Amino acid sequence: MTTAPSPEYAAVWNKLQLHYNEPNLLETILRKVEEAGVTKKDLEGPNGWAYFSNVDQYHNAKQGATETLLEKLNITRGAAVVDLGCGMGGVARAIVAKYQDVKVTGLDLSTEYVRVAKGLTETVKMTGSAQFFNGDMQDLSRIPEGAFDFAVSMSAAMNVPNKLTFFKEAFRVLKAGGKLGIWDLVRVPGEEMPDFYTYYSSPSENFIEVFDKYLNYATEAGFIINFHKIVDGSDVLTAPEVCKLAVQEVSFNTLMTGANGRPKMADMSATNAAGKPWKQTGMLVCEKPGSS
Ligand SMILES: C[S@@+](CC[C@H](N)C(=O)[O-])C[C@H]1O[C@@H](n2cnc3c(N)ncnc32)[C@H](O)[C@@H]1O
Repeated sequence: MTTAPSPEYAAVWNKLQLHYNEPNLLETILRKVEEAGVTKKDLEGPNGWAYFSNVDQYHNAKQGATETLLEKLNITRGAAVVDLGCGMGGVARAIVAKYQDVKVTGLDLSTEYVRVAKGLTETVKMTGSAQFFNGDMQDLSRIPEGAFDFAVSMSAAMNVPNKLTFFKEAFRVLKAGGKLGIWDLVRVPGEEMPDFYTYYSSPSENFIEVFDKYLNYATEAGFIINFHKIVDGSDVLTAPEVCKLAVQEVSFNTLMTGANGRPKMADMSATNAAGKPWKQTGMLVCEKPGSS
């Protein structure tokens, strides 16, 4: 399913490829988890996925955010799900752990993160249920129309310049009645953009947009809007108890740099402490009309 970026997008693509790239990330994660005393048996057990949930949920509020979005999507048993901009595959593995008999396909621009996604999925014995590909979420032309029951995308559309194309592509690959769930950093008119945004790539490579435009694009692509909200901390569900197993040293705060990532984390923590960041997160659930 690998897709090459269009020529006009190639420069941004190449910069993002460098940003979402930490050499030997898979090996570092696995080594640190082992050093923390987690055994092969632990990782291959039903809670194996949770040991990585500090690092493989590369978005604000981590697994709590994932639970919040999933609650609105109501993924059904046996569903086919696509994760657009899946990063290291944490959301995909959380979906596999939570819902029976689902199959998740993850697509991401970063070749390194796709390698990490495959490696962690293999480690926790979920390869039969989650698979990962390198590609552009604005071009899903290799996926047949109506292939999926659900689509998710967390903190990824913010990096995409052509959001309307992204919505149209998501619409095309969903079945009638299928739902798309988005959790993303958005611009809120009148609110200052915190500096930590650059942790998720520098301003020339992120395309953070006002939330109303997401709603317009979704509608223009053909979706019916089921739910939308600029969320704050009080909207976020508690992560399941099992996520307490997550190894603290294996966190995106410490393991991933990207361009200027570590210094920017200090800004993120300070903004968090000031109780501000929630004003910039949008959650949207929309549906392709018709019944499946
Ligand atoms: C902040 S990370 C979020 C990863 C994952 N969704 C999660 O929540 O853990 C943003 C991800 O979007 C991916 N991304 C950015 N632009 C993309 C594009 N055009 N197509 C596919 N993936 C993209 C990046 O490679 C990166 O893995």
